[in-house]
Amino acid sequence: MTKFEEGFYLGASTSAHQTEGDNTKCDYYLMENMEHSEFSEKSGKAVDHYNRYKEDILLLKEAGLNSYRFSIEWARIEPEEGVFDEKEIQHYRDELTFMKENGIVPVVTLMHFTSPVWLIKKGGWTGKDTPFYFQRYARVIAERLGDLIPLIVTINEANMGVQVGAIAERYRKLMMQNQEKNVEGSVQVGMNFNSMLENMKAKGMENYALFGTPDPKTFVSGRKEEEEETVILSHIEAREAIKAERPEIKVGLSLSLHDIQAAEGGEEKAKDEWRKEFLIYLKAIEKDDFIGVQNYARSIIGKDGIMNPPASASLTQMGYENYPEALYNVLKRVDRELKERNLDIPLYVTENGIATSDDEERVVFIEKALSGLKRAKDEGVDVRGYFHWSLLDNFEWQKGFSMTFGLIAVDRVTMKRYPKPSLKYLGSYAPIKRNV
Ligand code: BGC
Repeated sequence: MTKFEEGFYLGASTSAHQTEGDNTKCDYYLMENMEHSEFSEKSGKAVDHYNRYKEDILLLKEAGLNSYRFSIEWARIEPEEGVFDEKEIQHYRDELTFMKENGIVPVVTLMHFTSPVWLIKKGGWTGKDTPFYFQRYARVIAERLGDLIPLIVTINEANMGVQVGAIAERYRKLMMQNQEKNVEGSVQVGMNFNSMLENMKAKGMENYALFGTPDPKTFVSGRKEEEEETVILSHIEAREAIKAERPEIKVGLSLSLHDIQAAEGGEEKAKDEWRKEFLIYLKAIEKDDFIGVQNYARSIIGKDGIMNPPASASLTQMGYENYPEALYNVLKRVDRELKERNLDIPLYVTENGIATSDDEERVVFIEKALSGLKRAKDEGVDVRGYFHWSLLDNFEWQKGFSMTFGLIAVDRVTMKRYPKPSLKYLGSYAPIKRNV
């Protein structure tokens, strides 16, 4: 193991809804509390990061990490359309100030899957006015908090809607063929597809009552690629608003990227998979300051599409393969695509991690992923940071708290934190000197 060079961002990631607790103004909160909910449990107080962020950031710092990626919750900042909550703005100012005082570089995500309920009522993530609303929110953040933020990820995993759309379609086909196959494990975000397909009608009525439509377009609602214009424009307009206010802030988005490998006969399908995962977002990215690469696994594509992991593979709690080697392949592929187009855009690994109850397995995963990252760097890929998912065990969306991705465990009754050996292990790669 060798340490990273000075200036490299070594940190961990979280998102607001998955950790803060009592995030009552967002779409997920309502969906979790529906009678016909697909969620295995509710986020509730989550891991109370809203009140305990100081303790969490200090644990990260003590382990030697120098950077923290977290998200600001849009629904807290703008709970009603056009109404900005001063108290919440001050909350995030306090959090950012605390990081500054402790020499921790913040990387801030503006939208990590959850949206204000009012946005969904107005058409959500296929709505034509959403880019305007997102831009306005981004401008407020740049104006009010921008002096404390060096890097902004506008949208987390901008490509998630298309991935969910594709898996939902795959599921529908399998159901029609009456096949027994687990496809849940082939999408990154925790989803319960089985229960989703049951009770659709009753849910439609409940949705109508809550969101004014039987089919609300949340960020992770399945989308077709031709429906991605709202997401792409939202990113571009937010970037412009931030840059107009504070040109020094580095702005980018993040993408969920699989290491897509073609098995015999799957070459064309594999190419198309990559096109949908990465290439269609190039027009959003080409003027960005960086790309956030988020990688957890590989996808093996055969002539009939995504294949099950090899029989010998060890699976993570999420149902997909434990395959840390994927990170190197993805970094190299993104780099190749950029170089072919003469685009000089640095990469940050904004998420990478493993859901396991065995922390030794996490240590090995980190060791392999980071050795791949270093190899990619040695071969000329411009990677400037690595953020492990996640700092804390947290709310894995529809899968609830059963998936343990964290470097720190949390007892959700006492909210006491228990750092795992993997936190210290990750910290052992830290540059000797801090960046700030
Ligand atoms: C998301 C996180 C999620 C993680 C693990 C990423 O897709 O950004 O919110 O918890 O993967 O599934």
